[in-house]
Amino acid sequence: MSEYDLDELIEEAEERPFNMEYFLRILGYTRPYRKTAVKASILTLAGIIIGLLEPLLFKRAIDEGVMPGNTTALIVTLAVLLALRLVQWAASRVQIRTINVLGQQVLYDLRQGLFTHIESLPFAFFDHRPVGKIVSRITNDVNHIGNLAASGIVNLISQLLSLIGIVEIMLYLNWKMALLSFVTIPLLGFVLTKVRWALEDAWGDTRKAVASINAHLNETIQGLSVIQAYGYEKHNSVKFSGFNKKYFDAYMRAIRLDQAFWPLTDIVGAIGTAIVIWYGTSSVVRGTMTIGLVVAFVNYLGKFWAPISTFSRVWSQILSAMASAERVFTILDLRPETGSVAQEGLIEVPRLEGEVVFEDVCFAYKPGEPVLTDVCFRVSAGETIALVGPTGAGKTTIINLLARFYQPSSGKVTVDGYDLAQVSLPSYRSQLGIVLQDTLIFSGTIKDNLLFGKPDATMEEVVRAAKAACIHDFIESMPKGYDSEVTERGTNLSAGQRQLLAFARAILADPRILILDEATSSVDPETEQLIQQALKTLLRGRTSFIIAHRLSTVRSADRIMVIEGGQITESGTHDELVALGGRYANLYQAQFRRA
Ligand SMILES: Nc1ncnc2c1ncn2[C@@H]1O[C@H](COP(=O)(O)OP(=O)(O)OP(=O)(O)O)[C@@H](O)[C@H]1O
Ligand SMILES: [Mg+2]
Repeated sequence: MSEYDLDELIEEAEERPFNMEYFLRILGYTRPYRKTAVKASILTLAGIIIGLLEPLLFKRAIDEGVMPGNTTALIVTLAVLLALRLVQWAASRVQIRTINVLGQQVLYDLRQGLFTHIESLPFAFFDHRPVGKIVSRITNDVNHIGNLAASGIVNLISQLLSLIGIVEIMLYLNWKMALLSFVTIPLLGFVLTKVRWALEDAWGDTRKAVASINAHLNETIQGLSVIQAYGYEKHNSVKFSGFNKKYFDAYMRAIRLDQAFWPLTDIVGAIGTAIVIWYGTSSVVRGTMTIGLVVAFVNYLGKFWAPISTFSRVWSQILSAMASAERVFTILDLRPETGSVAQEGLIEVPRLEGEVVFEDVCFAYKPGEPVLTDVCFRVSAGETIALVGPTGAGKTTIINLLARFYQPSSGKVTVDGYDLAQVSLPSYRSQLGIVLQDTLIFSGTIKDNLLFGKPDATMEEVVRAAKAACIHDFIESMPKGYDSEVTERGTNLSAGQRQLLAFARAILADPRILILDEATSSVDPETEQLIQQALKTLLRGRTSFIIAHRLSTVRSADRIMVIEGGQITESGTHDELVALGGRYANLYQAQFRRA
């Protein structure tokens, strides 16, 4: 297993045990916003203190105002109460806003950091990982962590302080009655842990079910043409109903537990209150306690449950943030692709001549399944090389190594004598022009897509590149010309048009080494002929690698290499290979006869 494969356990976990290191690391994200965090804490604390004072004021209002019939004392106390309520209300408004600002700032940083890091990871990371999971890292997991960093931690600490305050005051007011009312705590603890766990579990199941529904929906919409073409809709709906049912069941279970949970906590709370009222009123009758004290006590008891309940909610929030943190931090701790970020000892490649050497290169995408074995060749600067061979032979793989998308398992690839393992990737890749087998067009305008390789190109250069790629006329025929919008993945273009655009993009980049992997396979033969003509002038002085199944495309290459089973089996010019009468000659004759 490579270091870029994450543990299955980490991938799926809803909750993970508390981990101090992660917790501190999450806290670390609030460091740049220390001021905001301090402000939020102070406001929260103010709210708590006011909350703690209130029952004492009730007590005063009753014992010193109502009972002795002292109207002034009553009015003064009520006025203070009202003023405190106003302050509390204002503080809580500002507090909510501050916590939201803090949370969003942390989320912003974390999301941006994760995104930039994922962009820098080597291809090997993405090979065996569904895109959906990576997307959910950036959205869901980051949210979990951000929520904890903002409201969770503030809540945790403030509720804890509030609980301590309440207990202290209750013990101070009347320790006997306080201890009596705490009798219900074990009962509440049982309800909170057992039922709450089951409840969280059920909600976790609904989230998993939603994820399956989304994944299936995604796949279905993207593959709808195939599904409809094969009449697979019914089967597909049955498959969907499986996921749908799972969600339904999980949700119903969660709701049932949820309905049981709250009444249970209420009942436990009521038992506590009943004890206090029973003990309190009998003491009042006996004259050992005032009515105000009993009222204040019942009030404190009411406030007593809130922190406990919040605490258990925040705790499960923490555990789920731990699971998210484990996933996110594991990814953040992966080494970025060597050379993709500034680092000591990397070589900044100067303008290349384009001499490419593969020295005993072996490569495997997965350990134990070699794709290339002992590939050796040398290409002089300015040479045009064609790679041909059966499907799955390893042609694209050779290109992947040349572009340094992957590194050889043994042997090395050098360009102008620079070992690709040691070069700074931006300095190297900026000199490559690559048209890959799966053409990628991004949403945006046609022009945006062309400017990828040379963001500062003038309109003149853009048009010249488009003309060379025979796509200029088509672009001009679109309603907005070069400013026409392309949909995501270029679905409003034909496959051939997408290839031509990618081609123009590579030409515009004015690369030292041009790599064309089946770049014109979907283009009609006449257009391909025209491109061939244009290429003749374009390729002058540049090293180029061309992969094509249509041998007419590769005939004029300086050298043709035949790849079979991950090795170079034949190499020479078209005429030499035809004269040799080997694999290439056979392929050529077969295609020639068909033509
Ligand atoms: N990302 C990957 N992970 C694992 N195996 C891969 C990956 N990409 C390619 N392979 C395997 O490597 C082998 C060579 O693939 P490669 O893409 O180099 O073939 P190719 O010669 O370009 O074929 P084609 O003509 O179909 O494009 C294949 O057996 C393929 O299954
Ligand atoms: Mg290929």
